[in-house]
This record gives sequence, C-alpha cells and structure tokens, in this order.
Amino acid sequence: MIPTGPNLSERYSAALAHYLADPDEDVLNQAYELGRKALGDGLGVLDIAMVHHGALQAAICDESRAEMMPAPAIAKAAEFFAESMSPFEMSFRGLILANDRLLQSQATAEAANRELEAFSYSVAHDLRAPLRGIDGFSQALLEDYADKIDEEGRRHLNFLRESAQRMGRLIDDLLGLSRVARAELCRLPVDLSVLARNVAAQLGNAEPDRQVEIVIGDGIGAEGDAPLLRIALENLLGNAWKFTSKRTAARIEVGTMSVDGDTVYFVRDNGAGFDPAYEAKLFGVFQRLHSTREFEGTGIGLATVKRIVSRHNGRIWATSEVDRGATFYFTLGDGTPRP
Ligand SMILES: Nc1ncnc2c1ncn2[C@@H]1O[C@H](COP(=O)(O)OP(=O)(O)OP(=O)(O)O)[C@@H](O)[C@H]1O
Ligand SMILES: [Mg+2]
Repeated sequence: MIPTGPNLSERYSAALAHYLADPDEDVLNQAYELGRKALGDGLGVLDIAMVHHGALQAAICDESRAEMMPAPAIAKAAEFFAESMSPFEMSFRGLILANDRLLQSQATAEAANRELEAFSYSVAHDLRAPLRGIDGFSQALLEDYADKIDEEGRRHLNFLRESAQRMGRLIDDLLGLSRVARAELCRLPVDLSVLARNVAAQLGNAEPDRQVEIVIGDGIGAEGDAPLLRIALENLLGNAWKFTSKRTAARIEVGTMSVDGDTVYFVRDNGAGFDPAYEAKLFGVFQRLHSTREFEGTGIGLATVKRIVSRHNGRIWATSEVDRGATFYFTLGDGTPRP
C-alpha cells in the first residue's frame, strides 16, 4: 500500500472533525478535493478507507463527542469496511496494471510498425535508381548495338526491359501503400458520389471504347479523409472496371445501405467474380486470384484500400461468385482517427 503521508491524513482528520461539528457544504468540497489529490497521488480506495478510519478514531478520542460515537463499534465498522473494500482495491489495481501493460505493448507495436514502414519506404525508394539503370542500359543496347545483336538477343533484352518495368510498377505501388499508411488523416464531410463520379469519368476517358453502365447513388455522404477515400475508390472502381472488361453488358454500381445502424458503402460489378473461399486473402499484399495474362495487376490495390479503411476505424469485406460479379463493402468507423 502507498503511504498516505501525514499531510493528507491530517488534512482529512481536520476536515472530518470540522464537518462532524458543523456539516456545511464547503467542508464537503474539501473532502472532494482531498479525494482527488489522493487519486492523483496514486492512492486506492483501501488507502482512503484507512485514512477515514484514522480520522474517525481521532474524532472519537475527542472527549466532547465521546458519547455521540461509541468508539469500539465505529472502529470495528471501519475495519469491516476496509476489509470489504479489499477485493475492489485488488481488481482496481490489477486493472491499472493491465492497462499500463496494454498501453506499453501498443506503443511498442506502433513504434515497430512505424520503423517497418520507414524501412520499406526507403528500400523501395532506393530500388528505383538501379532499376532505371537496368531498363535504360537495355534500351541503349537495343538501340545502339542493333546491328550487332541477333533476333534472340533482342528478344532477351526486351524481356529484361519488361521485367524491369514491371518491378518499377510494383515498387511504385508499394510506395503508394506506404504513403497511405503514413499520410496525415484529416476527417471532414465528403461527398462520395462526387468522388466516385470523378473516378468513373477518369476510367472512361482512359478507355473510351468500353461501354460500361455506371450507376452512382446521389449524395452518398461520409466523414473521412477525401484524398485517401479517393485512392480507395480509384482502386475499387478500377477493379470493377478491370474485372468487367470481358462482359458485353458491363455494369458497376456504387451505393450505400444501413446495417445495424452503421452506414455501409459498396461497389458492385457484374464481372469475372472470384471464389469466395479466398475472400480474406484478397486484402493482403500481392494476393491475386487471377493471372496477369487474364487481368493485369500487381495485387496491391486492395491492401491499400484496406489500410485506408482501417485508418478510418472501418471494416472491409467482399462477396462474390466466380463469373457472377463481386461486391466490395466497407464502413468508415466512428470518427476516432488511428495513428
Ligand atoms: N471486382 C473484382 N472482381 C473480381 N475479382 C476481384 C475484384 N477486385 C479484386 N479482385 C481479386 O482480388 C485480387 C487483388 O486485387 P487488387 O486490387 O489488390 O490487385 P490487382 O487489381 O490485381 O492489382 P493492382 O495492384 O493493380 O490493384 C485481384 O487480382 C482479383 O483476383
Ligand atoms: Mg486492383
């Protein structure tokens, strides 16, 4: 038990004696302040019970009140009270300890995460320069030594360039993921309908020959970080656009619904779909259920979306059937931003 110190005990005794003699409000305020100080000093309920016990005893010793308070009975009652408070005290102290440990491990995990992110960022960043060298010098070989390299050699060099460029895209996507994790999160009211329409227009402009019916509900409001939510929609709509590319009547829908009082946003398409048994895997880095021959991609998009949704304290999940389209759902949490 933490010693209460003479100061607190004496002040408590004086205040109690005063209150017993003259029960006015001001003294009760003093009792409240003393309780606050005790809590601030790290004392528990049992400590306060002991202080109270001591103060009562002191008051009983005061001859003038001897008759008013039968001393042995009050002392026994105080002991009984302290004993009955012990379990509360123990669980209270246990809770404080558990909470301290939780905060400590949370801080350690967050520091490790930040370190890992900084590490991946600089690794990815430093990989770009040598890659540019590989691609650039392969191109120089192809151009400057065209007459000295035969057909087979040129094919190999072209493979080399394609691989370097693909790795460059992977690095860019990883850097994007890392940036999303580090960016400052700023929650404000956002019109997701407007964001989704902009993204859809961008997709349409990039492939004007495709006929896709895109239905976006009006006034889909959210509280969130607009630039991050735009990245999330770019990935979700980009996937819907890509995985409907083999449909003659492609359709994409963006909407919202209410589930148990929570707003759930969704992006639905009628494209290639996926085997729902692998739904949880999709949100991991480099997890793809379609080959790059079938559909291009690096497998970082959904990991990025998941990171954005988690940073908003939200959840993301998907439903699908092979060849029968897919729906991606997400929530955006309660407004308490995560680090
Ligand atoms: N709308 C969808 N319909 C069917 N499968 C999907 C859909 N969205 C995602 N998937 C599956 O989840 C995988 C992971 O998606 P993700 O967006 O992370 O990667 P990607 O689109 O392949 O590549 P990128 O990094 O360029 O986004 C996809 O490869 C695909 O197998
Ligand atoms: Mg994608």
